[in-house]
Amino acid sequence: MAGIPEDLKGRNYTRVSDWSRQELELALDLADELKQERARRKELRVLPGRTLGMIFHKPSTRTRVAFEVGIAELGGMALYLPAADLQLARGESYRDTALVLSRFVSALLIRTFEQAEVDEFAEYASIPVINGLTDLAHPLQALADAMTIRERHGGLEGVKLTYLGDGNNVCHSLMRLAARFGMHFTAACPAGYEPLPSVVEAARADAAESGGSVRVTNDPLEGADGADVLYTDVWTSMGQDAEREQRLLDLERFSLDGELVSMASREAVAMHCLPAHVGEEIAEDVLYGPRSLVWEQAENRLHTQKAVLALVVR
Ligand code: CP
Ligand code: NVA
Repeated sequence: MAGIPEDLKGRNYTRVSDWSRQELELALDLADELKQERARRKELRVLPGRTLGMIFHKPSTRTRVAFEVGIAELGGMALYLPAADLQLARGESYRDTALVLSRFVSALLIRTFEQAEVDEFAEYASIPVINGLTDLAHPLQALADAMTIRERHGGLEGVKLTYLGDGNNVCHSLMRLAARFGMHFTAACPAGYEPLPSVVEAARADAAESGGSVRVTNDPLEGADGADVLYTDVWTSMGQDAEREQRLLDLERFSLDGELVSMASREAVAMHCLPAHVGEEIAEDVLYGPRSLVWEQAENRLHTQKAVLALVVR
């Protein structure tokens, strides 16, 4: 494997738009290489002695384990820091926490509610800050998704990707990334659950440059028609549990089931960032069926997160 490029050292990854298309491509190329090297059981200790601090205000399986395993494989270590156990929980500011942790660790991951909290961390930290999911965005997920689609299609440009369901954090980051890469992105969401207009507008500006497109529809069948990739996520995100019953009713028609798959292209694949609620946003036969890329997609969290670390940590 060639050396790790220096281009992104010290940089944050708080949202997809922090990185240009070329920079995102660098991460995807490196993730592909890391995946191959891991399959060969080759050790790549490019981050010896480095530490990733990981602050979680919400639960996580994939993001956390991918980083813990990933940085260990690169020769470093991760510190799991549940927010409830930090002085943050007793009112210490993000500013002070960022200033102090910058003296201890080499990079910081934060999973929280408000994007503004990640941005505040990034403002005051002197080390790279990585967004591990906010209510607005999930940029690490979008990278793994892009890697998975690239593996299947050999590229991203021109691929028709339809996201079905709640126009949430996962939808936002996927849309931003798809637009950067010239994909044709459709969000099929019920009225009232569409992605934020500001995110759609920014993605459309990128799509105008890349030759892609961004469309929003309230009709799931129209959205699925001719798609190469059908993607969904939970209808009730973390922090929205009080709305669950209403959401189940409002989103019922958007379940990724056999009927929707039959509307898509003949080779269409199904994706889901997980965790899934089987029988709600995705049918069991789709999730576990031959068209599902979901498990490969989950594995690719490891390779893409390792790539992000290798690129940004000094
Ligand atoms: N998809 C995803 O981010 O999973 P976790 O919540 O398990 O990290
Ligand atoms: N939209 C989901 C994604 C979980 C990885 C949530 O925010 O809970």
